[in-house]
Amino acid sequence: MSPIAYSALGHRAQPPTIARLMTLMLENPKLLSIAAGFTDTKTLPVSVVQAAVDTLARREGDPEYLQYGTNQGRPKLRALLADRLLALETPSDADAVRKNVFVTNGSQQALYLAMQVLCDPGDIVLVDRPSYFVYLEMLAGLGVQTRSLPVDAAGRIDGPALRTLLADMRKTGELSRLKAVYFVSYFSNPSARSLDETEKNAIASALTEAGAIVPVLEDAAYRELYYERPHPARSVLSLPSWSAFPRLYFSTLTKTFASGLKVGYGTSSDAGLLAKMLHVKGHHDFGTANYNQALLEEVITQGGLDAQLAVIRAAYLRKMHALHGALVEAGLASLGWTWTVPEGGLYLWLTAPASLDTGLDAAFCRACVDAGVLYVPGELCFGHDAPKNHIRLSFGVLGEADLAEAGRRFTGVAKRFA
Ligand SMILES: Cc1ncc(COP(=O)(O)O)c(C=O)c1O
Repeated sequence: MSPIAYSALGHRAQPPTIARLMTLMLENPKLLSIAAGFTDTKTLPVSVVQAAVDTLARREGDPEYLQYGTNQGRPKLRALLADRLLALETPSDADAVRKNVFVTNGSQQALYLAMQVLCDPGDIVLVDRPSYFVYLEMLAGLGVQTRSLPVDAAGRIDGPALRTLLADMRKTGELSRLKAVYFVSYFSNPSARSLDETEKNAIASALTEAGAIVPVLEDAAYRELYYERPHPARSVLSLPSWSAFPRLYFSTLTKTFASGLKVGYGTSSDAGLLAKMLHVKGHHDFGTANYNQALLEEVITQGGLDAQLAVIRAAYLRKMHALHGALVEAGLASLGWTWTVPEGGLYLWLTAPASLDTGLDAAFCRACVDAGVLYVPGELCFGHDAPKNHIRLSFGVLGEADLAEAGRRFTGVAKRFA
């Protein structure tokens, strides 16, 4: 028993699952990890960063980039990011969307800021099913409850079932505690699915009918990580069905450029909501690392981000095929496992036969670790009613040969449990 009298937040804080997965890795050096969502190391843009560093160092005048910056983010970087976003979107409030671009220490920080200003313990957030497990763990840490957006057998948003859920929440009094709705809408972590406009519209119309005009958080972390063509759906920033809602849009340069720089960004349709988030950001760090932002400003201006995207889109397509192909060749599908071939992102989302428990403490997971392969149990990715038979595999960090080997090891274990 610790003598320290922790706060309620301190009491709720649990070691993140990712830490447990990393400990497993460190204890088993021969383990091939297709668990962590790390990005590809081989294609990290060393020479592009070098060029940006050189440009900054040669710049005349004070080295302001080594000084503190502004809380909301460097104006030029924000303008560049707004330009990129507004090339994809046509919001009716384009000026607000441009003005309200903010830069954070990864989009993870922005998600945390939003939750801190919107939710108290006991409040409820609607989340996609499955959803991003680090966000779900954050909500649990804040004492915030989740309800899943209902989906049909194909994983698509089920509008009628959402109406029923909201009506039930009204009856139980829970609807007044609903504070936000969150979804990962492009090449999602973990499912690799993208939401179509009809699905986003179905969520908006069910909430509108229920009178629940709560802030919507659209997490577009993987939007630009398509392999061959972008997903055509507009975001909540442009869809008329969402125009009455306060809208937050999140993205990041960690997946598209360099995760080590840890720069994320977003925008808000609502200046008041953004102002609250920035007040709290002031308490966190009063500004994202200015040097990293200055580097990215240079990189984008010099065309380095688009060049890097061209490299990694091709690399992730190859890597996806290395893992997917190994699973197919080793016979996983014939054991009753199913998955959809992704068109972007870093993940394969597998569904095992219903009776197989793939949880962290289950025999299957232990057998995989013994066989030298580590995955993320799908049960972590659900707000509630977590099915046990899903698995997220990441092809982000390992090379193609290791991915193929990991796929063979994984299927070898699946055969023993068939
Ligand atoms: C869906 C999603 N959102 C947000 C993040 C956070 O990314 P970062 O904080 O590195 O920008 C991640 C990282 O894996 C993610 O998968």
